[in-house]
Amino acid sequence: MKIFIGSDHAGVDLKSAVIKHYEGKFEFEDKGTFSHDSVDYPDFAHAVAESVLNNADSLGILICGTGNGMAITANKHAGIRAALCWAPEIAALAKQHNNANIVVLPARFISTENALLTLQAYFDTEFEGGRHQRRIDKINL
Ligand code: RB5
Repeated sequence: MKIFIGSDHAGVDLKSAVIKHYEGKFEFEDKGTFSHDSVDYPDFAHAVAESVLNNADSLGILICGTGNGMAITANKHAGIRAALCWAPEIAALAKQHNNANIVVLPARFISTENALLTLQAYFDTEFEGGRHQRRIDKINL
């Protein structure tokens, strides 16, 4: 599976850890940022959201300090379901119920270990469909 990943300066270290952890398992396209220099999270959220929408069966991962800036921005794109996830159970439900296509991690409020467990829970879970698909179909304005 192709994964588009992006972060701002607050999430750049966790981004590297995620890519390293899943190296060889997933194909990553890293949309930046690539240093600790201060940047604007929407630039990376838009880049990842557009790539996910243009590539069937791909997934996005976005990381900033709280996760909120990335989630708010990515969810401006119709068809993006970006879920802020800080625990494995939240991530599993983001897949099972919301079929999230972008997982957002709050780098300043989650350990690397918990972030990796959270992502793994997302990967290990299937979308349930049924009534959840009906609800997803009502999201776009
Ligand atoms: C950057 O300082 C911080 O505002 C950003 O990483 C994020 O938390 C925004 O939502």
